[in-house]
Amino acid sequence: MALLPILQYPDPRLNKVAQPVQLINDQTRKLIRDMSETMYAAPGVGLAATQVDVHQQIIVIDVSEAHDDLKVLINPVVLQTSGKEENEEGCLSVPGIYENVSRAEQISVKALDENGKEFTLEAEGLLAVCIQHEMDHLQGKVFVEHLSHLKQTRIRAKLKKQRRETL
Ligand code: NI
Repeated sequence: MALLPILQYPDPRLNKVAQPVQLINDQTRKLIRDMSETMYAAPGVGLAATQVDVHQQIIVIDVSEAHDDLKVLINPVVLQTSGKEENEEGCLSVPGIYENVSRAEQISVKALDENGKEFTLEAEGLLAVCIQHEMDHLQGKVFVEHLSHLKQTRIRAKLKKQRRETL
């Protein structure tokens, strides 16, 4: 296994649209293991392949406290959403920034697991937020891009300053 470097906003590669996975093989499963390890090590609750510069529709999520409930979503499709809720979000590609984003409260998605088996997932709460956040990544959208242009400009300036101070 290996830790993968995570692209940092506003890297333009975060805006690439991921392609559906055509064939799930050992290489796919190795990527999924590396993505999971990278997510747990960060630590984070979700990671999209886009964030490690692989532009395929693959997401790993684990919102459990014990880190023992890994969910792998390949080629996820939203079946249904309901409600609306604002929650504070963060992202491993936008370190130290937490902002409110409005999302569906409940979501139902279908996806393939790491063995190519289709499943349906009904989610609410943090898991629902996380799925929508990660699916945005696959569409080339970072959560801060839901905010006003003024806010995005401020966030980019803050990140630039942060990076100068840590380098
Ligand atoms: Ni993210």
